[in-house]
Amino acid sequence: MDSGHRPKVLHTKEEIAATVRRLAGEIRRDYRDKHPLVLGVLKGSFIFLADLIRLLDFPLEVDFVRLASYGRGRESSGKVKVVQGLRTPIKGRHVLVVEDIVDTGLTTACLLDYLRRKRPASLRLCALTDKPSRRKTPVDIDYLGFTVPDRFLVGYGLDWGEKYRNLPEICFLEDE
Ligand code: IMP
Repeated sequence: MDSGHRPKVLHTKEEIAATVRRLAGEIRRDYRDKHPLVLGVLKGSFIFLADLIRLLDFPLEVDFVRLASYGRGRESSGKVKVVQGLRTPIKGRHVLVVEDIVDTGLTTACLLDYLRRKRPASLRLCALTDKPSRRKTPVDIDYLGFTVPDRFLVGYGLDWGEKYRNLPEICFLEDE
């Protein structure tokens, strides 16, 4: 697919690595003895989650949920669907949700509600990026990587119509 856009680097590999190390340090302090369930939101968080958990040197489990909010374009439909639900029971567990980006916040807010109803012992959110200028509903981010401008981001797991997930940097798309 030719998007008519060119990716420009916003955060380099080195910046990402340093940020993931910082987040892992914060998470390590809070979860070392809690045997958390680290819950990745597919597909965008898979690279971030893979890098993050390799820096967490204590027992944890991993599961994924898959949600659909965006179609193949840039605008959120505002409707969120759980396409693949949880496979691990979370009642009484310490759950850490790992997101690629909090944009309008609709997806994350909906997911947190869905999870809260299952009565975890605790529920926190780690997001690689936050685009606060686009927020439509409040979301508390407990562990945040980067606050980003109102640009469409790709790379390091983030896609534009399934393209660019494999870029090692976080980029924004610039018109050609
Ligand atoms: P929200 O519901 O508007 O917060 O959007 C959440 C989901 O939309 C994210 O998990 C991403 O999958 C997608 N999304 C939002 N902004 C971007 C972006 O800049 N690049 C790629 N995907 C995005």
